[in-house]
Amino acid sequence: MTDHDFIAGLPKAELHLHIEGSLEPELMFALAARNGVAIPFASVEEVRAAYSFSRLQDFLDIYYKGADVLRTEADFHDLAVAYFDRAAADGVVHAEIMFDPQTHTARGVNFDTVIAGLLSGMAAAEATHGLTSRLILSFLRHLDEADAFATLEMARPWLDRITAVGLDSSELGHPPEKFARVFAAAHALGLRRVAHAGEEGPPGYVYQALDLLGVDRLDHGNRSLEDPALVARLARTGMTLTVCPLSNLKLCVVGDMADHPIDRMLREGLRATINSDDPAYFGGYVADNYRAAAAARGLDRRDLAMLARNSFLGSFLPDDVVATHLAALDAYVAAH
Ligand code: HPA
Ligand code: ZN
Repeated sequence: MTDHDFIAGLPKAELHLHIEGSLEPELMFALAARNGVAIPFASVEEVRAAYSFSRLQDFLDIYYKGADVLRTEADFHDLAVAYFDRAAADGVVHAEIMFDPQTHTARGVNFDTVIAGLLSGMAAAEATHGLTSRLILSFLRHLDEADAFATLEMARPWLDRITAVGLDSSELGHPPEKFARVFAAAHALGLRRVAHAGEEGPPGYVYQALDLLGVDRLDHGNRSLEDPALVARLARTGMTLTVCPLSNLKLCVVGDMADHPIDRMLREGLRATINSDDPAYFGGYVADNYRAAAAARGLDRRDLAMLARNSFLGSFLPDDVVATHLAALDAYVAAH
């Protein structure tokens, strides 16, 4: 079996995926037509050609524009189903997906419309593929604390269907401390906590995510490597890092995939995982991310199995379900 196929079949969880970032240009055009929404592109090719970024903000500007075609519950259902079909083909058996309610409520699309569509897509994926999933409500950090609190309020009727809160969007200038009280309130409601930190922001933002937000998992976390004491702490506490190699390349967090620190993270004892972030924008789904990292950094099958293992250990699944996934992973590795 080739490494290509080994990676596709490797049972894995995806822990860092923005569902709005899985909107492929083809679906963007279909939804624009269905909803009578104008989009500033003439063709699918023109959309793809626009996906060239030199930093996070370049991407975010186009990502929020693309999301404008999402209007109805059916749109969010179709978006989710398209992602899960792709993920299942990549060996994903469990996904913890982020959604950005404020991107939609700011346009007059109701919170309930968004979450109902996503939940029905999640149920369809479980019925079709046996792929389980959880929802992470992510706050936009470029907006203020009051807006995040209002969003948490909208989530109240749905709390039993939401696993965690997250923090995304423009990192620089919007440190985690801005949302310390919102995260405390989410924790008090029984939600788990994740946050993007150390993608473009300094190691100090990672400390804030740990100490002021109390995160259970760190999204990206790359710049932690600049601080040896922080690396030691993350390793000692078994903190999961949801690393996204193709995103890192596209957003110039690394200059070249050959310089990606994924193997260094594993060597330093960090619980690193591989994820796709915004696959429609960054050129690949989760297996493409495993392959790109493996080819550039010479990862062997033991490394790949470790990354998949970490994805289950870092998930919010109960211990007995994690154990079942790890047993299936071990059996797969032993058979290959
Ligand atoms: N970083 C910050 N915000 C985001 C990202 C990301 O990688 N993807 C979608 N929103
Ligand atoms: Zn992200």
